[in-house]
Amino acid sequence: MISCYVTFKPLGQKIKCTQGTPLSEVARDAGVRLRSVCGGKGLCGKCRVKVMAGEVPPLTGAERERLSMEEVADGCRLACQIRVLSDITVHVPPESITIPQKLQVAGTEVEVVLEPAVKDYLVALKPATAGDSQSDWERLAHEVQNTLRQPLTTADLMALRKLPSLLRENNWTVRVSIRNGEVVDVRPLNKSPFGLAVDLGTTKIAAYLIDLENGNTLAADGIENPQIACGEDVITRISYAMEHSGITLQQAVIEGLNQLIAKLCPEPERIVEITLVGNTAMNHLFLGLPVKQLGVAPYLPAVQGSLDVKARDIGLNTAPGAYVHLLPGYRHQYRSCPCPPGEVDEHFLRFRPCFRGRAYLLRDARCERGNREGGNTGISGYSSDSSGCPSHRSVRIRGA
Ligand code: FES
Repeated sequence: MISCYVTFKPLGQKIKCTQGTPLSEVARDAGVRLRSVCGGKGLCGKCRVKVMAGEVPPLTGAERERLSMEEVADGCRLACQIRVLSDITVHVPPESITIPQKLQVAGTEVEVVLEPAVKDYLVALKPATAGDSQSDWERLAHEVQNTLRQPLTTADLMALRKLPSLLRENNWTVRVSIRNGEVVDVRPLNKSPFGLAVDLGTTKIAAYLIDLENGNTLAADGIENPQIACGEDVITRISYAMEHSGITLQQAVIEGLNQLIAKLCPEPERIVEITLVGNTAMNHLFLGLPVKQLGVAPYLPAVQGSLDVKARDIGLNTAPGAYVHLLPGYRHQYRSCPCPPGEVDEHFLRFRPCFRGRAYLLRDARCERGNREGGNTGISGYSSDSSGCPSHRSVRIRGA
């Protein structure tokens, strides 16, 4: 395997890659945020770079169509169309770099009764003695069921692995996090549980760290959705996942979310529950589900209702036994409600009590008329499902 070095000017990044790697992939690895409206198909012409030195393959048909004679003579190429054959230096013009998204995480706090899916209990056990041969798990289960009167059916394997040493190091008194009868985590007394609420958008990801004991928001932050390097809209990403691998897109979003978690929470192992809301395609890509069927009639999702999956199964850095709860994304589960143009959020805030406990789509009336003025229109939704996880989100969509 031959290695090559690629230098991106004027950004100054220099990165090693394997000979033959597409330049757009090298740029992505180097953190150079090249635009990719068409997902690397050579159709949009947005990923123009100028090759200043080094060997590159001949022009592709797509490049001949998108680049003018002057541009070609000037060394201009499409990064998604060329592979790196030797050490090269490329100049990236400002118009080929994605514009950093304005990340807004502030919003109106909606008051809800705190009823997390994961309940935390302080459990003090009788220390084991020579005459008491109960296992650690039986001892814990007995105390939780008989003293706390909480149903208990099972324990996450990772929580069980922590239990023996944790009990002995903490004088047989520990915190136990229980979700639907399953012990998902055990921790020392001074480690209260955290929850994470995530709004997984096509362009941005926002996350909120919540103290599950009092409902306070401890920290909030957002990042650009790293999948943007593989396409700027949902359709392009579905098409990218079909042609390449959905895994790349899943890795990108999981890595991004893990970075966000690390920024928000110095002790991510205290996060025992994540609630995530995203559109159907984003949910599929987040879970690593196939998306091919979403892109062809009759456009059916692999899953339509709410879903609980172990966070570790998709690579998230949280408590090992934590679950991710995904809200339902299927249109038939929502009531649809038109709003005055441009007033989706205001409409939601004004009539919030009417929406409580239901899932709604608030459609900007311009959606129905077909907004050809270049402005964006919005959809908002609010739901409080059976697990008591409330969510309100709003997304902007381009007018039809
Ligand atoms: S031409 Fe669209 S990403 Fe390269």
